[in-house]
Parts: sequence; C-alpha cells; structure tokens
Amino acid sequence: MFEPPEPISARTRFCAVLGQPIKHSASPAMQNAGIAALGLDWRYLAFEVRPSDLNGAILGAQAMHFIGLNLTVPHKLLALELVDMLDESARTWGAVNTIRFEGREGEQAWRPLREFSDAPLEIRSHGFNTDADAIVQGIAEDLDLELRGARVLVLGAGGAGRTAALKLASAGVRELFLINRTPSKAQAVADEIRQLWPAVKVSLDYPTSKIDLVLNATSLGLKREDPSPLDPSRFSLQETAAVYDMIYRPAETTLLKRARQAGCRAANGLSMLLHQGARALEIWSGQPAPIAAMREALWQNVNNA
Ligand code: ATR
Repeated sequence: MFEPPEPISARTRFCAVLGQPIKHSASPAMQNAGIAALGLDWRYLAFEVRPSDLNGAILGAQAMHFIGLNLTVPHKLLALELVDMLDESARTWGAVNTIRFEGREGEQAWRPLREFSDAPLEIRSHGFNTDADAIVQGIAEDLDLELRGARVLVLGAGGAGRTAALKLASAGVRELFLINRTPSKAQAVADEIRQLWPAVKVSLDYPTSKIDLVLNATSLGLKREDPSPLDPSRFSLQETAAVYDMIYRPAETTLLKRARQAGCRAANGLSMLLHQGARALEIWSGQPAPIAAMREALWQNVNNA
C-alpha cells in the first residue's frame, strides 16, 4: 500500500525517542510508518539514555539538526528544566514528552527545523506534552465513554497517574477517587485538583457505589507476577462499567482479564500511545498524522512481539 521510504542519505533527517529502558518501545515502528505514509525523508530512532546524560543527549540531537524528540520514562519531568521553551501543554501538565527543534536567522520568527535545509544560525528546543490529551482520546475511542459527569477511580499517583487525574478533572468528570500505594502523593494530586477544578469532587478512598471507569496508571501489571493494582477486598469489578489500563504490554493484564470476565468494557493503553505519537508527528511535520498507518504498525508491533 505504501511506497517504501527512500534509502537513508546525507539528506535524511532524524527524530528519536530517549528513555531508560527503551528496547521495548513500539514508538519507532509506529512513527516510521507515519513518516513513510507522509512521504518524508526522515527516520525515527530509539536511544537508551541515562537521566544524567539527558541534557547532553538533547543538546547533541539539537547540534545534529534533529527534527524532534520524544521522551519517555524517566525523563519527562527532568526535561521541563532542560528545554529552552515550554509550550502551554507542557506547563499545564507539568511534563515534557515531545520536543520540537526550531531555528531562526537573526531577528526572524522561530520556525520548525524541518523548514530549513541548511542549518539556521540559532536553534532552540521547544517542549510539549501530548500525553494528557491522548489519555482522554484513548478512553473515549476504546470505551465509548462520556467523561463529562463520569465517576472515575484512578489507581496510581506517579507521573502518569497525576497527569491522568488532572486531565480527567479538566474534561469535566463529576467525581474522582484517587488510590496510591504512597497516600501522600494521592493527597498532593487531590489538593492540586481541588484548587484548579473545585467543581470536581475528589476522594482518597475506594468508591462505595457503582462507577463509570477504573483507570490503572500504576506500573502493576507490567510483570506477569505483579499483584492487582486494585484491592479486591475494597472494590469489586462488578461495580464499574469500564476499565482502562495504561499498560499495553502485556496486551491483557490480569486486571483487564478480570474486567472482561466481570463483563466490563475493557481496553489497554495502546490507543493512548497511538494518540500521543500521532500528535507528536503533527507537531514535527505540520501535517495531519496518518493515523491508520500508525495504528496498523503499532498493532503489528505489539501483538506480534
Ligand atoms: P509513571 O511515570 O509511569 O507514572 P512513576 O511516577 O514511577 O511512573 O509511578 C509509578 C506508579 O505505580 C506509582 O503510582 C507507584 O506508587 P508509589 O507512588 O507509591 O510509588 C505505583 N507502583 C509502582 N510499584 C508499585 C507496587 N509494587 N505496589 C503499588 N503501587 C506501585
């Protein structure tokens, strides 16, 4: 269906994802499919980078005129301090998962580096967050759920859990239940939400009546032997209509299997990964992302791995 990409040449431009660990990442498969579908002479790579080397890696990519970068665990917070400029999305959600390199000549306006065939005089890094929007897009798409007015149990208050809870509050949910192994982190997220979205009711306990959604934002489920992120003595899956697990590998965590057996609508985090990546490619290319090609490559990569 697609033309094969041109062979790599001295003109080829690069994007990359930086993380630690990184070998499991499905982003290169997804992004290279998107890049090929757009007919761009770009490639998307993956590099394992230690947090102490993140600044050097970003500056190195900038010096080599990369188009942009994605950042994954554990770099998203650290990058807030390292980029030259923060987009509103990165400021609002307090994390950077996408960097676009931009250049300018003299006093001209900053433009994406893709628009320069020769290196501009000055280059800067511009940080964005595409994760938060992707969470609600993924949930709406896979679970056919109206978040406005919904009651949601969020498991986890680390980086992903915090962003998810804040984004759900901004999407107009009626009530949030926040559970985390370390209660002080859930408390801090609750405080933030109460200040920013006072209309949203926030509880730091399990719900006692039927809810619309359970969202797993903990890392429990990545390993087969992990215990459930949900305490079954405190909450039964019979009490929710739907379950979304941000984990996508394994494709069906124990939580999702139990949700399916309990008759809930259930989905893994693949749609979230797709939408954060699609938005990043739009930020770099200035064109609508070829979602179908990216989705297909992602599904193939994750389900055949
Ligand atoms: P991420 O950026 O993916 O959210 P993180 O900030 O390290 O990564 O958060 C991991 C989440 O999984 C946290 O909610 C963490 O709970 P703590 O805040 O108490 O650390 C949760 N988590 C990790 N391992 C866990 C375990 N064994 N039991 C319960 N929760 C766990």
